[in-house]
Parts: sequence; C-alpha cells; structure tokens
Amino acid sequence: MQIVKTSEALSQALAKQTAIVFVPTMGNLHAGHIQLVELAKTKNAYVVVSIFVNPLQFGANEDLSKYPRTLEADLAKLEGAGADIVFTPSEQEIYPDFDASTNNTHQSFSINLPSIANELCGAVRPGHFSGVATVVLKLFNLVFFNGAQTKIAIFGKKDFQQLFIIRAMVKQLNLPIEIIASETKREDDGLAMSSRNGYLTPAQKLEAPRLYSTLGLLVDAVKQGNTDFATLEAQTTQFLTQLGWIVDYISIRSSQTLLPATQSDSKLVVLGAARQGTTRLIDNIEFSLKS
Ligand code: PAJ
Repeated sequence: MQIVKTSEALSQALAKQTAIVFVPTMGNLHAGHIQLVELAKTKNAYVVVSIFVNPLQFGANEDLSKYPRTLEADLAKLEGAGADIVFTPSEQEIYPDFDASTNNTHQSFSINLPSIANELCGAVRPGHFSGVATVVLKLFNLVFFNGAQTKIAIFGKKDFQQLFIIRAMVKQLNLPIEIIASETKREDDGLAMSSRNGYLTPAQKLEAPRLYSTLGLLVDAVKQGNTDFATLEAQTTQFLTQLGWIVDYISIRSSQTLLPATQSDSKLVVLGAARQGTTRLIDNIEFSLKS
C-alpha cells in the first residue's frame, strides 16, 4: 500500500490507472469505513482512500481541533483491507491559502448548493454541506484527473443527507463519476458506528442506541398507516427529550427528494440528529410503503 501526501505524488501514482474507485474519509477509521473499502475492493479497480479532516466543513464552535486523528492505526486498517493507495494531504495541499494559526481556509470560490443543504443537519450546521461539497469536488478533481475509464466514489448511507447532496452535485455539475452507497454499519446494539462515538461516556454509550431504536418505532408507526407525520415527529422528539437527549431534528422525508414526506410518497426515510451531552449523533432508516 502506497501512502502519498501531495497532489503531485498522487497524480504520478494514478497516471496510468484505467479504473479507480475512491473512498474519501476524515480518518479515525472504524468498521463502517472499512466496509466502504471492502465494497471498493469488489469493483476490480485501483482503490484510493483519502484521510483528510476538512476544516471547511466544521463550524466555529465545532470539534475540529479535538476531532480524533489516529493515522498509524488507520493505515494499518487500510493495509489489512487491501487499499492500494492512501492520500493524506495537509491543509495547505487542499487549501493553497490555508492559515494554520486561525484554521482559515481562505477558500473564496464555492459551489451554490440546493436549499435542502440548509435543512436537517444544514440547519444546525450552517455552511457544513458547502464545506463537504467543496472538499469532495477538490478530491474528485485530484483523484480522477487522468480520465480513468472507470471512476467510482463510495459514500455511506449513515450520512444520508451528505450522500444526497453529493449525488445531486455529480448530476447537476455533470461529473462523470459513479456514486455508490454503502449500508450503515452498526454495533451489535444497533448504534451506528461513528468516529464521534469515542466521545461518549460509558453511560451515554448505553443510551446511544436508543436513537436508532426510536427511529425504528417511527418507521413501524408509518408502516402501520399513521400518516400524521408532524405529530409523530413531535412525539418522538418529546420522548427522546424526556430521556435527556437534546434533539436537533426528527424528520420523516421522501428518500427521493429529501423533502418533507407527503401522503403520496412511498419511498421514505426517517432521519434524526440528537445529542448526548456535547456529542452529536445522527442516524436514519430508509423504507418503502407497499402501494
Ligand atoms: P467520515 O465521517 O470520515 O466518513 C467517511 C465515509 O464513511 C462517509 O461516506 C460516511 O458516510 C461513511 N461512514 C461513516 N460511518 C459509517 C457507518 N457506520 N457505516 C457506513 N458508512 C459509514 O463523511 C465524511 O467523513 C466527510 O464528510 C467526507 C465525505 C470525507 C468529506 O470531508
């Protein structure tokens, strides 16, 4: 497995590849990330993984400085999973005008995102998806620059809104890249694996799977014919709040448009974001109603 830090070394390493599959990450890799790499391995293509904690997608009061950085362990896991090359750029490599003393990227070009980027997680994290889309587009440019015939990028369904926005970006900006989604990898108790789970205290870790199980109850209620979505969302929010969660949102949406679900939608997703103390967890369940 090759490890490269610069765009130049990356382009040299990829110059002759005709089939590339790319898995972008922010590191602190867990079994959910590795599942993405395993899916990449099935594509008969050169497997590129990036590890880059992207300052542009963190808000001023978020966890950029304490975001877990575990490069040695990550590289060992990627080697075990059979990645071909790992790109670990510096901030300056991705943001040429980066100011390390303030973490300011000085990224003044940006992509206009659809209004859905200001809802759900985007409502609580202004600018987050703009930062995600910008770095993903930069990484796509660096990884797929050579016009390899097969160009695939893999993302997890755990970040459902992120996946939705990246798919929209690829479609609307005519990026010749196939996006493949991987299912959410969970702990045995149902908790979606996340780098942020490491922040949880033992007591919070015991409570954390309730986000998923409660979304499951919501899915059951909708499947049983309850279509009063607003009341269901409010009741679920109240239930979690009473148990000590700080709920950012619980929302029933069309999985096709990510707009609030209507009676005529049959492909749905319930999404939730809630905090245990200062640790913010997100999860979702996609489901269909029989017509
Ligand atoms: P990160 O949180 O490191 O996640 C990298 C990829 O792993 C994303 O596609 C995410 O959806 C996926 N992933 C995380 N937890 C997962 C789980 N439990 N099961 C399946 N897939 C999971 O998402 C990002 O980084 C960044 O926003 C990034 C796209 C790299 C841009 O900076």
